[in-house]
Parts: sequence; structure tokens; C-alpha cells
Amino acid sequence: MRFELHAVLTLSADLTGLSKELGAFLESLNTTLLAKEPSRTAAITKWTTHEKTLTLTITSETSLRPHNALLQVKNALGAQFGKSHHLGIRSIAVPKYTITFELDRPPQKPVTIPFASVAIDGKTAVLTITDATEEFLQRNYIDRMITLVKEKVENQYYEGKAEFWKLIWASPEKHLVWTKDPTEEMEKLGWLKQGPTKGKWFYRPQAAAILKTMEYIAIHEVLQPLGFQEVIESHIKPFDIWLKTGHMEGMPYEFYYVVEPKTRDAKDWERFIDLTKITKEVDVAELQKNLSPPAAGIAYAQCPMIYWSFKGKTISESSLPVLVYDKTAISARYESGGRHGIERVDEFHRIEPVYIGTRDQLLDLREKLLERYTHVFDDIFELEWRKAWVTPWYMQQAGKIGESGTQETGTMDFEAYMPYRGTRKDSEWLEFQNLSILGDKYITAFNIKAQKSELWSGCSGIGLERWTAAFLAQKGLDPDHWPKGFTRYLSKLPTGIEFL
Ligand code: SER
Ligand code: ZN
Repeated sequence: MRFELHAVLTLSADLTGLSKELGAFLESLNTTLLAKEPSRTAAITKWTTHEKTLTLTITSETSLRPHNALLQVKNALGAQFGKSHHLGIRSIAVPKYTITFELDRPPQKPVTIPFASVAIDGKTAVLTITDATEEFLQRNYIDRMITLVKEKVENQYYEGKAEFWKLIWASPEKHLVWTKDPTEEMEKLGWLKQGPTKGKWFYRPQAAAILKTMEYIAIHEVLQPLGFQEVIESHIKPFDIWLKTGHMEGMPYEFYYVVEPKTRDAKDWERFIDLTKITKEVDVAELQKNLSPPAAGIAYAQCPMIYWSFKGKTISESSLPVLVYDKTAISARYESGGRHGIERVDEFHRIEPVYIGTRDQLLDLREKLLERYTHVFDDIFELEWRKAWVTPWYMQQAGKIGESGTQETGTMDFEAYMPYRGTRKDSEWLEFQNLSILGDKYITAFNIKAQKSELWSGCSGIGLERWTAAFLAQKGLDPDHWPKGFTRYLSKLPTGIEFL
């Protein structure tokens, strides 16, 4: 990696008479200030003066970046000549800053990033930043820009490739009662109504009863027996939470954003209200004038806000492992494509247990959760299902690809065969559940501590629509054909409402 920075410093007085002294001082910096540690050195390789300007070239091949060195040089100059010569530094401009570094492999197509032009020849990349301000350099974006170029090139190699997926276990084939799409059939029966907006459903009593039974089973067969306690979080996530979890860079195109009114003073809304009264339409342009820019979004997953609730806290050893779940926040994801059934929705209902404890506690908990889930899927639903290691959701939702996790940390997906989609072999199975251990990733991001233990955390997504879709796709809509384990919880559907 090689950095070369050209800076123009404008000083408060003419430098003509000072040129020699200045030169000697700058040269001395190369062996003092800029060479304090061998692994952190930079060099002023060229300097010229012209009237009130001092032009410098600073190069480095170490972790002392020239933009940091420049700020040190500026301070040193101020200290050396400020008092003795009444010389102040008025401004710094960086007309050109180039960074040359090697990539692991050549890009397959051009790469662009903000703030710099990118030229890549083979495996050698050159970033050129022009006309940078001192303020820009102080922000320390440079290393992130280098990382971003490397990441974008690496990602090109994963585009279009199948996602990481490794089968762990599969149940035996089960007796299936039909091959219809449960969403379509429930709509025909009036149990469900599509809408009112994209990817949303209105669950009438029959469908609501099934979803609520799923919730009941998850709580009474999985979470309560393991000692999980319920918490209630807000649906609305401010951006700083998503910045910490990585969602903001990974999933910005899938959020439902939330905006607040600019003012809640009715007077400011008079024109909008009048327009609505007269036109009986929503004048969106007028509305927008009264709205603040978005600063939050509706839940994408529930766990980020649970971590936020522990931010900066030290958890007592006696509370470990922390076992909590939220079943209140509704998640929203702006899904692509046309119409889908309840198995792929823009708005869904999920219970999300989150666990925080030592590595051993969490590995043990994973076994216990697996045992309880297996009981539900085998004994209560009698599902045909399988388990697989997949790309950890916290990598995927942070926009990182090609990561597989380890056997200790990572995400396990539970998938169900959906007979209406085709054969077992060729059709896409439905991910109806996941289970993850994240290691210390979010523990560190949210600065969560215990008295003495090193903490890990994890979560598991229990999607009620997904459980329902998997169960109904295999077992049909007729309670008479449902497994005994399930009819113990729901044997008769509500009568619902008849329409003429
Ligand atoms: N947070 C996990 C996910 O979004 C579990 O719900 O998949
Ligand atoms: Zn989660």
C-alpha cells in the first residue's frame, strides 16, 4: 500500500526569507515526528515555497497515513514558527491524494465509490482524491474507502452464485394431504383478505386463529419451558440502532421508513387540511412540506432493539443467560416481485427470542432450543422438514456475502417442503424458522458486559406466517386431517363471517 499526498498550506506571512530554516525543520520531521515507530512512518518527500504558500508531498507505506501525518506537521509548524516568526497556518488544501494498493484478485468490472476516482490495473488499485479539505481528511474515511473497494471487487465474485447452504439433517418423508397453495385456498374461503397495500394481509377469524395458535405453541412449548421472559419493544427503529447492527448499509432498500411531522401545530397544517377537505384527495406534495426527513424505520428484525435496551449495561452473573423474547413488534420488509402468499409478505408477525450468556451457556441453550423446536415440528405439526447451515443472517442483513460462520456461531435455517411448489427435489423449500448464535458481534457493537464472563448472544426468528404456511401447505385446511398434536391446541375453527 502506498500513499502520496500533495498539500498546499497557506500561511499568514511571506515565506521567502524563511525558506532555508523551514526546509531544515521539515527535513528534521522525517527523522523525528514522522518516524517515531518503524511501523508508523511517513516522509515529506518534496516541499516548495512560493510567497505565502508551502507545498508539501507526503508519502507513506505504513499505518501512519499521510493525511494524519499532515495534521501532525501542521501542528509542529505552528509550534515551531508560530511564536518566533508570528506565522500562522491559514488554510490547508489537498489538491491530490493517491492511494495505491493491491487486491486479492482483479475486478470483473469497473468499481466506483464516493469521494474518489478508482482506477484498477490488474490487481493494482489506485484511488485518487482531488481537492480534499482538511475537515474531510480528519474524518478518517480513507481506510474505509480502501476496504470498500476491496469488498466491492470480492463481491463481484459472489454475484449470481448460489448462497451458502449445507444440509445438517432431514426428517423422513411425511404423509401429505394435498398439493394446493394454502393462501389461495384461504382467500377463496374468505379466511384471508389481501392488502390493503402491497404484501399485507387481513387475517379474518379463521386465519387469525391459526396464527394465534402458532404463537401459543411457540410460547408454551418452546419459550416458557426454557425460562424465556417476555419484553415489549417499540416498532420504530431509529437509524443509530441500524448503524450499529449493519442493517443501514446492508438493507436500506428493504426498510419501511418512518417520518415524523415537522410540526404538530395545527396552524401549520391549515393548507393541507383545507386542500383535503376541498379535493377529498391527499396532496402528497403539500404533505411533504410538513414532514421531517426520515430518521427511523419499522422493525426489520426485533433483536436489534433488544440489544439496544442492553446498551452500555453490565449484566449480573446471576441473570445469565439472559433469555427474553418480543412478540409485539411487527416487522416490515419491502419485498421484491409481484404477488406472494402469506409465506412472503411485506409485513409479518414474529416472535423473536434473544439470548445473552457465556459461550457454553449459549451452545447448551442451542441444544435445548433444538430439542423443543424438534418436538413442535415432529410431534405437534408432524412436518416434513430439514435443517441447514446458511449464511449467518447478521452478515446477510449487513450486506456481506460469502460468509459461512462456524459450527459454533452462525445461522441454522429450518426448511419445510411445500408440496404445492413441486417435487421434493426440484422445488424451493420454505425457510420457516431460523436459529443463530452471533458470538460477540452485537455484544461488542452495543457495549454489553457481564461482571466477569465474556458474553455471546444469539436469536431465533419464529415467523407466525411462515409456521402457518408450512403447516397448512402440508396438512391442508381441514382440521379433521390435522395431526392430533395440533388439534389439541386448535380442533375447531371460528365460524367467521358470511358475506352475501
Ligand atoms: N434476527 C433474525 C432474522 O432477522 C431472527 O429473526 O432473521
Ligand atoms: Zn435476531
